[in-house]
Amino acid sequence: MSARPRVLQLGRLMASLETRLKAGFDTTFLADEADPQAFLAAHGGEFAGLVASAGVGASAALMAQLPNLKVISSFGVGLDKLDLVAAKERGIAVGYTPDVLNDCVADLAIALMLDIGRRVSEAERFVRRGDWTRGTFPLARKVSGAKLGIVGFGRIGQTIARRAAGFEMDIRYHTRRPVDGSAYPHEPALLELARWADYLVIITAGGAATKHLIDAAVLDALGPDGFIVNVARGSVIDEAALVRALADKRIGGAGLDVFEDEPNVPAALLALDNVVLLPHVASGTRETRQAMADRVFDNLQAHFAGRPLVSAAPQP
Ligand code: NAP
Ligand code: 8YV
Repeated sequence: MSARPRVLQLGRLMASLETRLKAGFDTTFLADEADPQAFLAAHGGEFAGLVASAGVGASAALMAQLPNLKVISSFGVGLDKLDLVAAKERGIAVGYTPDVLNDCVADLAIALMLDIGRRVSEAERFVRRGDWTRGTFPLARKVSGAKLGIVGFGRIGQTIARRAAGFEMDIRYHTRRPVDGSAYPHEPALLELARWADYLVIITAGGAATKHLIDAAVLDALGPDGFIVNVARGSVIDEAALVRALADKRIGGAGLDVFEDEPNVPAALLALDNVVLLPHVASGTRETRQAMADRVFDNLQAHFAGRPLVSAAPQP
């Protein structure tokens, strides 16, 4: 019988993290099993730990197949695919990786805002197609000093605001509750923020509570001179309404890192010049992904050493 705790890994992870997990624990990668369901039926009770990710999540049904599970360590900060209520009911500790990714996600939000406002990717295609030999590129829109509305003002939203202040942007935010002590005005009405903003950056939590928070009415309030950036979750925006607004030029443009049905991106978006499309890479730097991987391991190690998790998920 292994003295090391048995840990089940869901989904592929960074190679360095998989190596550490194999060295530190008795780790099983579920997809390596020929019949995962049969394996869980026979051995599910042997696992004290589960390694998941924001992209894969952990359902109540899976937790039920692991009756002696004591800790889940998730790679990522998003918890929208992890059943926190089921974990709480089962007394399972849940760890995740907040804060270590704030910088990179905020950096990419700023990059998308600059890209879509100044038409950077569009201009690059213009040169690459040889169009510059046939005419000049059309004017874009200024970002410095423009009005920035941030929807969601937590760890990453506030990091975005700090960067945008460096561009002398006029900043307001929308959340359900104002942030105590914030230097920026809280706009309680999302539609009003959209009407006011030149750029609307979406950085709320995902999940049922924010599904389609950004709907056709918000997009119409943003208007043909407004731009939207989404680095939160695809579910936060009504994607069909967004595609229509972009195709009809009822908004100025969009910078998107997340989509409702990843990795599938609506074909209608691929043909449009007023949208920048990225494959969910906001935290995708070597430095940040390594910091996230380290946190996943550190959360597990703390639990099995009888210490509090380094970053425990909020209780539902
Ligand atoms: P956080 O600190 O928990 O902040 C979440 C913010 O969302 C809070 O300000 C919260 O304010 C707001 N919010 C929640 N529900 C809302 C609602 N219905 N209406 C308006 N605001 C709402 O989380 P974080 O660390 O900043 O991360 C935010 C999210 O970014 C994650 O959950 C994840 O989905 C996403 N993310 C994406 C990437 C990527 O690769 N693209 C990487 C990391 C994170 P109130 O509760 O006061 O409303
Ligand atoms: C993750 C993210 O890399 O942390 C999150 O919530 O969206 C990204 O940082 C990705 O979702 C991991 O599966």
